[in-house]
Amino acid sequence: MLVGIEIAIETFLTHPRPSLFILNEEKRNLELGGHVGFDSLPDQLVSKSVAQGFCFNILCVGETGIGKSTLMNTLFNTTFENEEASHYEHEVQLRPQTYDLQESNVNLKLTIVHTVGFGDQINKEESYKPILEYIDAQFESYLEEELKIKRSLFNYHDTRIHICLYFIAPNGHSLKSIDLVTMKKLDSKVNIIPVIAKADTVSKSELDKLKIKVMSELVSNGVQIYQFPTENEAVAEINSSMNTHLPFAVVGSIEDVKVGNKMVKARLYPWGSVQVENENHCDFVKLREMLLRVNMEDLREQTHARHYELYRRCKLEEMGFKDTGPDSQSFSLQETYEAKRKEFLVELQRKEEEMRQMFVNKVKETEAELKEKEKELHERFEQLKRMHQEEKKTLEEKRRELEEEMNAFNRRRVAAETLMGQALQGCSQQPFKKDKDKKK
Ligand code: GTP
Ligand code: MG
Repeated sequence: MLVGIEIAIETFLTHPRPSLFILNEEKRNLELGGHVGFDSLPDQLVSKSVAQGFCFNILCVGETGIGKSTLMNTLFNTTFENEEASHYEHEVQLRPQTYDLQESNVNLKLTIVHTVGFGDQINKEESYKPILEYIDAQFESYLEEELKIKRSLFNYHDTRIHICLYFIAPNGHSLKSIDLVTMKKLDSKVNIIPVIAKADTVSKSELDKLKIKVMSELVSNGVQIYQFPTENEAVAEINSSMNTHLPFAVVGSIEDVKVGNKMVKARLYPWGSVQVENENHCDFVKLREMLLRVNMEDLREQTHARHYELYRRCKLEEMGFKDTGPDSQSFSLQETYEAKRKEFLVELQRKEEEMRQMFVNKVKETEAELKEKEKELHERFEQLKRMHQEEKKTLEEKRRELEEEMNAFNRRRVAAETLMGQALQGCSQQPFKKDKDKKK
C-alpha cells in the first residue's frame, strides 16, 4: 500500500521516543510495505465519541408566546416540559432544561434554554443582559474546570450555548430595536440563527419582503449571524445555498394531521392546513437539516474555537496573563504568576497604607472632637463653679445680714428684758415701801 505520510507523525505513532530527535528533519514521504493499521484512526475516534455521547445546547430567545416551545417539540419530535410564561415578569429570566435523548445508538445530552418574559418589560433596554450573563456564566464554569489542577473535562457537563435561535415576530415591517440590540450584543458570544416565527400567519409576498428587510437591517447594523460553513466540500453546496435562505421562516406543530393518506405534522385552519415539513409551506425542514443533520458539529466547534476562545482570551488577559512580554519574548506561566503576585502585593501594600492613613485620620478627627468636647465641658464646669461661688457669696452675705439682724434683735431683746426687769423691780419695791410707811 502506498501512503504518503509525514515522517515526524509516523515515527511518533510507532516509536515515540526516537522521533524526538528527528522532529526538525526535513519531512520525507515513505512507502509502506503492507497494512499497518492506523487508517482505522477515524473509526477509533467515532467509536470513542459514540461511547462518550454528545451534548448540544440550544438557547431560544424570543418574546413570550412566539412559539419557542412548539418549535423545539417539533424539531426533536417529542414533547418537552413546557411551562407557559406570563406577560408580567419584572425581568428576563433564563430557564434551562436538560434531557437525555437517544437516536440509534447515539446519546445526546440536550439542554434547551428558554428566555422567560423577554420583551414584556416597559423598559427593554436591559433585556439582553440576563442572556449575556447566562452565556458568560457557562463559559466561566468551563474555564474554571479547565484551570483546575484536577480536571475532569472528559465527563464535564458542558453547558456552553452552541446555538441561539432568535425568534423574530412575523407581524411587523422589520426588526424591532430590542431584536437588533440583543442580537448585536450576543453575536460575539454565540452562534445566532434568526428565524421568523409563526410564518403561517403572513402571506408569501409579505414573508419574502420581511426576509429581505431583516437581512438588510442585520447587515447595516453590523450584526454577525451564523453562516453555514462552506469550506468543507461535502457540504459546501448545500450550506451556501441555505445561507441565502436566512432567516428561516418556520412553523411549529406537534399535531398529526391526515393529508391524503399520510399522517403529517401540520396546523389545521378552516381553509386548509399548513404542513410543517412541506418546503413549499415553510423553512422548517431547512432549519432542521442545517441545525441537526449537517452543521451540529460545526456549531459545537465554532462555540469552542471562536466564542469560548475569545471569552477565555479576554478573561486571561484581564487576569494578567500574556503570551509575550513587551520585548516579544514568550511569557512563562511562572513569570506571569510572579509578576501578578508582585503586582498584587504592591496593590495590597498600597491598600494597607491607605487604610492605615484612613485610620490615623479617623483617630485624629476623633481626638480633636474629644478635645473640643473636653474644652466645652471644662468651660461649662468653670461657669458652674463661678455661678456656685457667686451664689455662695450671696448666701454668705445674706447669712451675715441675718446674723447681724439676729444680733441686733438679741441686743434689743436683752435691752427690752433689762428694761422690763427694772420696771418690774421698780413696781415690786413701791408697795413694800408703802407697807413700811404704814407700819411706821
Ligand atoms: P412562552 O414559553 O410562554 O414564552 O411561549 P412560547 O414562545 O414557548 O410559545 P408556545 O410554543 O407555547 O406557543 C404559543 C402559542 O403559539 C400556542 O398557542 C401555539 O400553538 C402557537 N404557535 C406555536 N407555533 C406556532 C406557529 O408556527 N404558527 C402559529 N400560527 N401558531 C403557533
Ligand atoms: Mg415556552
